Parts: sequence; structure tokens; C-alpha cells
Amino acid sequence: MYKWITALRQIKFGVFHKFSTFPRSRTKFYIIFVVQKPPTPEGLQIFHINNSPLGLGALKKMKIAVVGATGLVGTEILKVLAERNFPVSEIIPVASEKSIGKQVEFKGKQFTVVGYEDAIKMKPAVAIFSAGGSSSLALAPLFAEAGIPVIDNSSAWRMDPTKKLIVPEVNANTITAEDKIIANPNCSTIQMVVVMKPLHDKYKIKRVVVSTYQSVTGTGKAAVDQLFAERAGDDSVAKVYPHKIDLNVLPHIDVFLDNGYTKEEMKMVNETKKIMGDDSIAVTATTVRIPTVGGHSEAVNIEFENDFDLDEVRRLLSETEGVIVQDDPKNFVYPMPITSHGKDEVFVGRIRRDESQANTLNLWVVADNLRKGAATNAVQIAEYMLKANLL
Ligand SMILES: NC(=O)c1ccc[n+]([C@@H]2O[C@H](COP(=O)([O-])OP(=O)(O)OC[C@H]3O[C@@H](n4cnc5c(N)ncnc54)[C@H](OP(=O)(O)O)[C@@H]3O)[C@@H](O)[C@H]2O)c1
Repeated sequence: MYKWITALRQIKFGVFHKFSTFPRSRTKFYIIFVVQKPPTPEGLQIFHINNSPLGLGALKKMKIAVVGATGLVGTEILKVLAERNFPVSEIIPVASEKSIGKQVEFKGKQFTVVGYEDAIKMKPAVAIFSAGGSSSLALAPLFAEAGIPVIDNSSAWRMDPTKKLIVPEVNANTITAEDKIIANPNCSTIQMVVVMKPLHDKYKIKRVVVSTYQSVTGTGKAAVDQLFAERAGDDSVAKVYPHKIDLNVLPHIDVFLDNGYTKEEMKMVNETKKIMGDDSIAVTATTVRIPTVGGHSEAVNIEFENDFDLDEVRRLLSETEGVIVQDDPKNFVYPMPITSHGKDEVFVGRIRRDESQANTLNLWVVADNLRKGAATNAVQIAEYMLKANLL
């Protein structure tokens, strides 16, 4: 009778790594050596390409124009391109006239801000825009006509029926070679639909009631300056909001419309239906600005056509790409702007049944609006296009 040894856990490159035995008397020991061949540089490269979100596109290197490169979102786009190792040969930063000649940094190298005409002449493979709605309406068609695909962060093109509104986890597969201007949704909508999608597929959403708690970074650089100036007791800084924002809460984001809602609220209603490809989903929103900087938070109440199991909801969400479940309230674990800051994922917690109504769920959803709400989503669209051979 032989006693077998499970001896070898791992041998890498011919080096003995870890080893354990259970010696007994009259026992014969067999040690099985499995020696892995060291990977060749070519083998390693193929491994990296196969495992890259860019597939074979990782082999290309390309010029990328970032229009609005000096702004809050533009700065984050540069960071995200670097962190995700997007294959960039050259950054072409574009901003308003007052910034031409300034330097922006990408991977330790300085690039000079140019005007849009020079940027078009330099023929970038793609232009990622975050320069506001009116700049986008004026400039995006000029890039598109020159054959340069545009991924735009402003609201200019989102509800144009001829333009796609894309959140990669939900509908990237609808992008085709004909799409020359692709819209990035509103930040508060992006984080909500990433969480809604797997739940809609499983239980069919009837209605969503959402209240947001949005960071001042959503309004741009000038708003962050207003918050910190107020906090420092300096009243001389230009006001972006009609009221004080520090130590305050404003039930008002973007302009008021004739129906009493704000434009931000109606963006959440209309963009959600367009991205999900389902006009039957009823959405009502109250969007609120609060004096935080790390990200947007949302209390989301979802009524489904079918009943659900809470454990299954947690499992579905934790298996969803780009979603992290943080739901252990007894240990004070739940998503917060301060912990989502600088992260690419959407965080969800406080997962519980709405006990006042059948088939209804309450969630708390947080994401960094400058990341998944803007820069990361735009770069993920570019990654998808590269992988699909559209760049
Ligand atoms: N902040 C967010 O959470 C968020 C989320 C989603 C989408 N967005 C959208 O992204 C866009 C930018 O937002 P932000 O927060 O980054 O604003 P921001 O900090 O004010 O930056 C605006 C950028 O646009 C540039 N710009 C302005 N006019 C231009 C022109 N005519 N030509 C070229 N560049 C021009 C500015 O250049 P200068 O420095 O030269 O002025 C700056 O680089 C907006 O459309 C916003 O709605 C923002």
C-alpha cells in the first residue's frame, strides 16, 4: 500500500516554490516535478494581447486628440488613458484659445495645447471631447467630416436620434463604422444604468424613482474653486451656483424647464430609456447638488414586473462587469463618494426590499463622476472601438 504525497504546489521556471509532505513509517514517497518552461518574450506579448481589453488593437499605437484637455474631465481622460495603457503614440491636447501653448502632461511627457484646426490637420485616430455643449456642436462635426471619430462628453448629441448614446457594459455592441460622433451619457445616468442592466434583463424594470446627491466636480473646475473658496472664508471668487454651496444642499442641477423639472432630471429620464433601448421604463428623478468632491451618490428605487430574490440580486450585481457590491451595513460597509473617488467602478450597497410595495428594490449607488461618469466611460468606448477594428 502506497501513501501518495501531494507534494508539489508550484514550480516556476525550474525553481522549487512550495512543498509539503506527510511522512509515515513504511511509506514510499513520490515527488512529482512539473517544470514549466520559462515564457519567451513573444509568448509573454501574446499573453498580454489576449488578456488586454484591446485585443489585437493593443499592437497599434495612435494619436489621440483630447478636446478640453485642460478641464476637470479632460485631465481625468489623460490619466485614464495612461492608467489603462491605451496605445497612444502622441497626445494632441486642445482647449480654448486662452490655453493654446500651455503644456499638459501625459506619462511624464509634456504636450503643447493646440487649437482645433491644427489638431484636425494632425489626423488623430480619435478625438475625445469634454469641452462643453456649444464647443462640441461647433467642433465635433469638423473632426467627423475629416474622418476622425469623436467620443463626446457633453449633452450636445445625446438625444440626437442619429447618434448612439453608449455605456459599454450596456450597449457598446450597437456601435458601427458609420458612427462618427458617439455620445457619452450624463454622469448620473451612466452609474444608474450600469446597475439597472442586469436587473432589467432578469426581472424587467417597470419604474425607477431616483434622488441624486451630486458632487461639485460635476459642474467643472470653477465650481470646485467656489466650494473651497467659501470654505476658506473667501467671498471674492466667481459664483457658479446661485447660492452658497459649502454647508448647503441645492435641489437644482442645470436649468429649470417648463415642466418644473431641471434639465439634469430630464436627462436621467430620457437618456436611461435610450441607453437601455426600452421606452417602457418609467423614470422620475430629483437631482441635488451637495458640497462633496469624490463622486455622485444616488438613492434608487426600482419596481420590477417580476419578483426577485435579494441574494440573487446581490449575486447578479457582484457578477456584473464594472460593478462592486459593498453591502455590509452592520459593519458600516456601504458605498461613499470618499471611497469611490479615483475609481473606475460603480459601487452599490444598502440593497434591500421596499416593504411598501410589491417587487420593489432600494439601492444606494455611488461612482466617481469624473471617472465612470465621464473619462473612464469615454476611454472604454475607445477601447471597444479599437478591439472591434473601428479605429
Ligand atoms: N464634470 C463632470 O462630472 C462631467 C461628467 C460628464 C460630462 N461632463 C461634461 O464634460 C464637459 C467638460 O466638463 P468639465 O467638468 O471638464 O469642465 P471644465 O473643467 O470647465 O473644462 C472645460 C474644458 O473645455 C475647454 N474649452 C472651453 N471652450 C472651448 C473651445 N471653444 N474649444 C476647445 N476647448 C474649449 C476648456 O479649455 P480652457 O481651459 O482653455 O478654458 C477646458 O479644457 C462638459 O460638457 C460637461 O457637461 C462633465
